[in-house]
Amino acid sequence: MKSCTRAGSLVGSISMKQKKEAWGSRIGVILAVTGSAVGLGNFLRFPGKAAQYEGGAFMIPYFIALLLLGLPIAWTEWTMGRYGGARGHNSIPGIFRVVWRRKMSPYLGVLGLLIPVVIYMYYVYIEAWCLGYAFKFATGQMDLGPDKGAYADFFSRFIGLGADGAVFNFSNLSGLNSVLLFMFVCFVLNFVIIYRGLSKGIETFCKWARPALIVCALVVLVRVLTLGTPDPAHPDQNVLNGLGYMWNLGWGGKSLWQSLGNAQMWLEAAGQIFFTLSVGFGIISCYASYLKPDDDVALSSVTAAAGNEFCEVALGGLITIPAAFVFLGAVGVTEAAGSTFNLGFMTLPMVFNTMPFGQFVGTIFFFLLFLAALTSSISMLQPAIAMLEEGLGLGRRASVALLGFITASGTAFVIYFSKDALALDTFDFWVGSVCIYILATIEVILFGWVIGIERGYNEMMRGAEIRIPKIFLYIIKYVSPVYLLAVFAIWLYQSSGTYVKRLVTEPVVAMSVGFLVLVFIFFLIITAQSVRRWNKVHPLEKEPHA
Ligand code: PHE
Repeated sequence: MKSCTRAGSLVGSISMKQKKEAWGSRIGVILAVTGSAVGLGNFLRFPGKAAQYEGGAFMIPYFIALLLLGLPIAWTEWTMGRYGGARGHNSIPGIFRVVWRRKMSPYLGVLGLLIPVVIYMYYVYIEAWCLGYAFKFATGQMDLGPDKGAYADFFSRFIGLGADGAVFNFSNLSGLNSVLLFMFVCFVLNFVIIYRGLSKGIETFCKWARPALIVCALVVLVRVLTLGTPDPAHPDQNVLNGLGYMWNLGWGGKSLWQSLGNAQMWLEAAGQIFFTLSVGFGIISCYASYLKPDDDVALSSVTAAAGNEFCEVALGGLITIPAAFVFLGAVGVTEAAGSTFNLGFMTLPMVFNTMPFGQFVGTIFFFLLFLAALTSSISMLQPAIAMLEEGLGLGRRASVALLGFITASGTAFVIYFSKDALALDTFDFWVGSVCIYILATIEVILFGWVIGIERGYNEMMRGAEIRIPKIFLYIIKYVSPVYLLAVFAIWLYQSSGTYVKRLVTEPVVAMSVGFLVLVFIFFLIITAQSVRRWNKVHPLEKEPHA
């Protein structure tokens, strides 16, 4: 390793064991970012949230959050990522190190490792449910009759909602039906793609999966929109009313103003924007760090966000709820919409079984969910792989093995503590909700105040193929941080209390948080080790400023 210290070249010195990776084509990075963004959030979470909050009314805070938080934070992630990449860093701690040349700054980036890795631990489990359901539909095992309870029961047994450790009780296994088998397939697929590397793995897979996903979505969409009025006994349960339920204001008989007064809805709309665009996780920065210094980020970021919004609003928003509505009516949908799992894994399978060509549609729908989830979950692994490689100097095989071990332990934890999905929920709340607000706030502050908004803007506009309106300078500097902090404060005030209390009263919750703390400490140590190494290999003084 010593011999590398003389290398003045930053790029050469960082990735000592492997060549610097790069995207194979211009469209590659856009497909990969869109692949990360389009996931279960688009097809299950979004329709569920919108239906839960009086349909159309939800779209107002949703689009406001898109403009004031989603796009601005996406821009900061893209710009800082490319900036760090030009200085030889692909991991968030490394990127933060060159953005803000302070001793502590890489440590602010530890969250950019923790968040994606922890989300992966439970997201891949849900991915396995989707693959399992696709398989079960395809092989005709999903026809459980018209009884709602049968589907709930099936789901509960499949993922072990009834008792801890149920899934690991091998006497329950009946050959190809076990969720563990699907889990194994998903895990292997994710790591094979990651092992093949950025361009050959992630980019190639997303190039193939994206059109496949759109085709599947269109097939399901055509089926849903041509359902008409399937049950003559309920003439009002037709497709048009289904769309109305999703999009019109005031299903609960409330006026627009009454609906907009609901603070919880604003929080959830902002949360949905983060989740669906994959911003605030550090993933986009990691992907953007593989760009060339003068590659466009302005148009690419907008294109990726627009691609995601198309899949969310135009595909996700037109499929899930109308399909459930025509068979269950408003009451049934309201019941189901509150919970993503309920809607996706208990209600929709029953609905598919009631419609003509249902077995086919069900197979395609769950396969679509699986593809969408897979392009998202691989994006969660890349930041940590980048860190292990560039920080510790590990080769691809070692870093994949190490990360495989860590994530497998986390997933096993989630699967073992499956009763009421408690571990999954706890990971999701503390990391998927709380930590992402913190990281997003760090990102906008670094961009707006540390890099400085004018410098940041010029950096963003270098090589840009569109001009981003200057009003966003003010939005990024003032509005986004204030909005984030306000939403975060209200959120903490409203919901953290119950979660903190549960920490004390529920052992599984306490253990889950303990597990998260261990993962955090692990990444902290890795970061400290990497910083020591970076300072030797290429001290900050030798690095070019912007
Ligand atoms: N954006 C993805 C979705 O909509 C979820 C995701 C979360 C992806 C975190 C990457 C990181 O499902």
